[in-house]
Amino acid sequence: MNTSSSTQALPSFSGARILVVGGAGFVGSNLVHRLLADGPEQIVVVDNLLSADKVNVPDDPRIKFVEAPITDDKVLRDLPQNLDIAFHLACYHGNQSSIADPIADHDNNTITSLKLFERLKDIKSLKKVVYAAAGCAVAKKTRDEPAATSEDADVELFHDSPYSISKLVGEMYGNYYFRRYKMPFAKARFQNVYGPREILGAGRWRGTPHTVWRNVTPTFIFKALHGEALPLINGGLDGRDFIFVGDLVEGLMRIAAYGNAGEAYNLGSGRETRIRDLATSVNALTGNATPPDIAPARDWDNSGRRFGDPTKSRQTIGFVANTEHQRGLEETVAWTKANLDLIKKTMAQHVDRLPEVAKYL
Ligand SMILES: NC(=O)c1ccc[n+]([C@@H]2O[C@H](COP(=O)([O-])OP(=O)(O)OC[C@H]3O[C@@H](n4cnc5c(N)ncnc54)[C@H](O)[C@@H]3O)[C@@H](O)[C@H]2O)c1
Repeated sequence: MNTSSSTQALPSFSGARILVVGGAGFVGSNLVHRLLADGPEQIVVVDNLLSADKVNVPDDPRIKFVEAPITDDKVLRDLPQNLDIAFHLACYHGNQSSIADPIADHDNNTITSLKLFERLKDIKSLKKVVYAAAGCAVAKKTRDEPAATSEDADVELFHDSPYSISKLVGEMYGNYYFRRYKMPFAKARFQNVYGPREILGAGRWRGTPHTVWRNVTPTFIFKALHGEALPLINGGLDGRDFIFVGDLVEGLMRIAAYGNAGEAYNLGSGRETRIRDLATSVNALTGNATPPDIAPARDWDNSGRRFGDPTKSRQTIGFVANTEHQRGLEETVAWTKANLDLIKKTMAQHVDRLPEVAKYL
C-alpha cells in the first residue's frame, strides 16, 4: 500500500488488506470495484443485503464476501487480524425507513457502529477506519439562502429521523474509540451521492415505498425514462449538493491514505442544485416531455437547502469533486438504461407491498 507520496496524488492500495462493511451497497460496491483495480491482497465485504443486491459484489478471488450482519459475533471474531484499512458504510437505508422502524434502524445503523468499533479497536495493524458520516445530519435546517456547511459546524440535538441520529452516534462512538483506544478513526461526511449501481428496490422491504424509490436522482431518472411527471416535493425549491459516486470513492481513498485520525472531511461538490433544476436536467437527458408535478413538502423533512464546504478536503487530502453534474447525470442515465432489467427484477420483489411498481414489470 503506497500512501506516503504527495497528498495530491491518488493513493494506491496495492497489496492492502481491506474491510468494507456495507460493501454490496451503492457506494460500497463502487468503492470495492475501484479498490480492486489497485491490486489489493484481499477485500473482505460484510453485508447482510438489507438494502443491496448480490449482483453488486464482484466475482473476484480477492473478494471474501460474508453475507451477514456486522453485528454477528462470529463474523466480528473472524475478521482478519492483519487488516490495513476498514471502511464502514453499512446503514439502515434511509430516513423514511428509519422513521417507519426506529428499532430496525438501531439494529442496522447504530449498534453496527458500536460493535464494529469495539472489535476494530483490537486490530492494531489498522492504519485507518473510515466512517460514512452524513452531511445532512450536520447541516443547518433552512429554507432560506444556505451557507456552506464546514466540518466544524455546530451540531443540532433535534433531528428529523432516527437515521440522522444514528449517523451522528456513529461519529461519536468512533471519536470515543479514537480517544480511548487510539483507533485511527476518520469521518467522511458525504453530501448527496448519485451514480451507477444504486439499484432501486435492492434488498428487503423496509416499511415504506422508499425501499423502491431510494434517493431523488435514481428515482427521477427511472420515472423520466418511463415518460412520467417528476414529483417536485415542496415545488422543487429544496437544494442539495450532488456528488458523483466516482468522486466520492476517490475521496474515501484519500481519507484512508491521508486523513488525520480523529478528524472529519466533507465530500461534496460545494455547489447547491435546486431539485427543480435537477428535474429539468434529467428530463432533457432522457427526452421526457411530461412536465413535473408539484407536490407538497414532506411533513417530517425540515432539511430544506444545503451544501457542503469541501475546502478542508481540498487543502489537506487533495480531494476535488471533478465530475460536472451534467456529465455524472449522463453516465447515470446510461447505466440505468443498460440495467433496466436488473432494476425491474429488484423492484418486482416488492410488488405485493407496493402495487404501483407492477406497471413497470
Ligand atoms: N448515498 C448517499 O447520498 C449518502 C449520503 C450520506 C451518507 N451516506 C452513507 O453512506 C453509506 C452508504 O450509503 P449507500 O447510499 O451506499 O446505501 P446502501 O443502502 O446502498 O448501502 C448500505 C449497505 O449496508 C448494508 N447493511 C445494512 N445493514 C447492515 C448490517 N447490519 N450489516 C452489514 N451490512 C449492512 C446494506 O445491505 C447495504 O449494502 C451509508 O452509511 C449511508 O448512511 C450515504
